[in-house]
Amino acid sequence: MEVSPSLLAADFLDLRGEIEMINSSAADYLHLDVMDGVFVPNISFGFSVLDAVGKICEKPMDVHLMIVEPDKWISRVRDTGAHLMNVHFEACRHLHSTIGLIHKAGMKSGVTLNPATPVSMLADIIQDVDLVLLMSVNPGFGGQPFIHHTLEKVRQLRQMIFESGSRAKIEIDGGVNETTGALLANAGADILVAGSYVFGASDPHERIGILKNLK
Ligand code: DX5
Ligand code: ZN
Repeated sequence: MEVSPSLLAADFLDLRGEIEMINSSAADYLHLDVMDGVFVPNISFGFSVLDAVGKICEKPMDVHLMIVEPDKWISRVRDTGAHLMNVHFEACRHLHSTIGLIHKAGMKSGVTLNPATPVSMLADIIQDVDLVLLMSVNPGFGGQPFIHHTLEKVRQLRQMIFESGSRAKIEIDGGVNETTGALLANAGADILVAGSYVFGASDPHERIGILKNLK
């Protein structure tokens, strides 16, 4: 299993220490949650934080934009050093065009689905994206309970990817811990995002190791 710890649950008074912990860990990515207070009912952090993190982060940055009109910010996200840019399906009017622009900027593309958006909405874009991020909580806050219906969506998405020949990876975000992580591994997830489970622990390395060992 690949693991993408979410910085949202980190100690912001010790960001350097938290990034150094991630650099020395077995994590595969660092997940960064940008919120605008419009698309979601919360505001997190913006480019000044992404730029600072980008300077010292040695893991590929997995940027999750919970914002309206993400197209406006593609080159700005690229300039932070991001590896992957996740945009919400619900925030894009012309998703095919947005995905093309993300690739043109030199990043991997991800499309994110809210809990109430069916996987079937991706039928005509699945061939073009590098990753699908399924929200297993309503976006906006860390520490929420896992929505179990997500497991059915992972199975449907796995089938769609198989039938279409797409190379897309399946990433899951929200309420991930060792119990829900095991269920997600079984359903066919490739990457687990984990915020409070990793950064809220006294031994984050152990938690990352537990998720990495899920098959
Ligand atoms: C929520 C964010 C998540 C959040 C997950 O909107 O997208 O990445 O950090 O937090 P946990 O893992 O605590 O549910
Ligand atoms: Zn996220």
